[in-house]
Amino acid sequence: SAAEKGGYEHFMLKEIMEQPKAFHDTVSPRIREGKVVLDELTFTPEYLRNLEKIYVIACGSSYHVGMAAKYTLEKLLRKPVEVTLASEFRYCDPIVTERTLALVISQSGETIDTLAAMREAKRLGARVLSIVNVVGSTIARESDDVLYTWAGPEIAVATTKAYSTQLALIYLIGLSFAETLGTITPQAYDAIVDELRRIPEKLTEILNHRERIQYLASIYFNHPSVFFIGRNVDYAVGLEGSLKLKEISYLHSEAYAAGELKHGTISLIEPGTLVVALASYAPLFEKTMSNVVEVKSRGADVLGLTTADLEADMASVVNHTLTVPQTHPMLLPSLDVVPMQLFAYYVALMHGCDIDKPRNLAKSVTVE
Ligand code: G6P
Repeated sequence: SAAEKGGYEHFMLKEIMEQPKAFHDTVSPRIREGKVVLDELTFTPEYLRNLEKIYVIACGSSYHVGMAAKYTLEKLLRKPVEVTLASEFRYCDPIVTERTLALVISQSGETIDTLAAMREAKRLGARVLSIVNVVGSTIARESDDVLYTWAGPEIAVATTKAYSTQLALIYLIGLSFAETLGTITPQAYDAIVDELRRIPEKLTEILNHRERIQYLASIYFNHPSVFFIGRNVDYAVGLEGSLKLKEISYLHSEAYAAGELKHGTISLIEPGTLVVALASYAPLFEKTMSNVVEVKSRGADVLGLTTADLEADMASVVNHTLTVPQTHPMLLPSLDVVPMQLFAYYVALMHGCDIDKPRNLAKSVTVE
């Protein structure tokens, strides 16, 4: 009913709109007096110092959180992070020792591939830390440590607020471990914590401007093929933006690391192809924009996403821009993903798709 959906037409939009609160509920109880406090965890400093590798194991959007986590955690911890699809991990003879941390990410806590991969990681000696939304789920119960995302129940098949809160926990884990390991300066630590607290208000600002995204969706919804490009964390968000779009609108879409385009994909760019260019990560803005120029010159229509301060530089090259407020570069995925979710939502709406229950998809996949 409409009441269940909080007055919105779909659970997906309701859940998109709940993200400032979900992010706040996940983060704020775990920051005390400017410090990240993860009471739930039982790691000793010695364990963290001896840690050789973090293996992120997940499926779907949770895997995309893992892709962002790799950039974030490697930067913060200076330890190798390998991100693997749960369905691949099970059958690839993974290199796991007692010094491996398996970081398992799952909204439902019941995805069979993720659960089986987690059991395999444990059997091989890894310690398991999971990020889970459903309290008491199988993955949560079988983990050595669990951090819950306080997103509340997620009904729409296409995840939004669970993704955002999973990402929030990645930042908290990164900050907490980095402090223990001494791999972050106090100044950098404080700067990220400060910005973390401001994410909810910045999310609200993005959501308040959703009409612009609806307008752009009305311009682009008929493009038959969409490519999402970006570098670093922008690439990670592009993967999720592309998945959201294909899941609910059934348009063909793919995400590519912008620098990889020239090794094949650029052959698919022709007049009328839509390219969503994510260039919010300032250190690589110019690099990504050089790829935008390449696709533009082959006739693509480009919808660009960047931060407000870089918009003018982008606007002269692309067809339309979307912006997010500035934040710490590490936290950009939290803001960038929201316009991508809304774009997918409004495109699917214009196609008249069954947004909350897309064909062939399930909220939780409990068979292999
Ligand atoms: C299904 C859902 C996706 C989800 C994936 C992993 O495919 O449709 O939205 O990302 O499972 O689910 P999990 O509950 O493990 O995060």
